[in-house]
Amino acid sequence: MIWKRKDLIGLEELTGDEIETILDMAVSFKEVSTRRVKKVPPLRGKTVVNLFFEPSTRTKTSFELAAKRLSADVLSFDVSTSSISKGETITDTANNIEAMKVDCFIVRHSISGAPQIIGQSVSSSVINAGDGCHEHPTQALLDLFTVREKMGKIEGINIAIIGDVLHSRVARSNIWGFTKMGANVCVCGPPTIVPREIEKMGAEITYSIDEALQDADIVYLLRLQRERQKENYLTSLKEYSIYYGIDEERYKRIIKKGAFIMHPGPMNRGLEIKSDIADRDGSLILEQVTNGIAVRMAVLYLTIGVKK
Ligand code: CP
Repeated sequence: MIWKRKDLIGLEELTGDEIETILDMAVSFKEVSTRRVKKVPPLRGKTVVNLFFEPSTRTKTSFELAAKRLSADVLSFDVSTSSISKGETITDTANNIEAMKVDCFIVRHSISGAPQIIGQSVSSSVINAGDGCHEHPTQALLDLFTVREKMGKIEGINIAIIGDVLHSRVARSNIWGFTKMGANVCVCGPPTIVPREIEKMGAEITYSIDEALQDADIVYLLRLQRERQKENYLTSLKEYSIYYGIDEERYKRIIKKGAFIMHPGPMNRGLEIKSDIADRDGSLILEQVTNGIAVRMAVLYLTIGVKK
């Protein structure tokens, strides 16, 4: 397939074939990170700018390493010491950086739609690294990659996404991605943080954790986003943990043998996931992080490494 897109904003607009192209390319890039010299030349001479307006450990580091392993130059723009604090707009900021001849912006922002606005303003590529409650496409792509690698397929598998769906860009991207690839997606959590509109995306909803878990091949736990709980969606965190958290008892009683646990990070240990579940065999949490580099290498290569 010839890759035609300038930007990657979300999985909503990608076709199943496009998703598969990224995953297939990531397979070949995964091997690069196992070499003694972890570097290949395709992005030599390209400049990638990390433009993160929100904190990040995994995504920012992963994009930086992915770009460097493809031999690109990487600029990690420090928003806190930039002229944004003097009132400069995000598009003026991006246009000024672009005037220094860069090729790609990786954008994370607390406002849904910010990467798209930047993408419309610059001719460089823009990759969404998570915008508000909208999408986090490369997180979902690395999740799809991890599931396909572990289970040999995505089509027909049952994935249960548990938790704060209302505030989760990861949930939205994963619902688009897994449904497009033929998986059965069930979302579960308290009714106040699992909006019914999610059904329109092709996912089933249940408010019963037992029902969500019993057939799941993948149990995907979402971070409870305490910083985005502006209203009283939950009676208490303790109650959430009791009714929807995964602990040893729930794991043994309901989750079927051979099912995998996933989480995008950062985890609230003891809240949505107990430590003995996060760290046990069958948890793919660190494999997800490892696979993030290969997937982001594939996205960067397709976006700025091949002639359009
Ligand atoms: N999964 C994820 O987006 O983690 P970070 O916030 O650390 O990037």
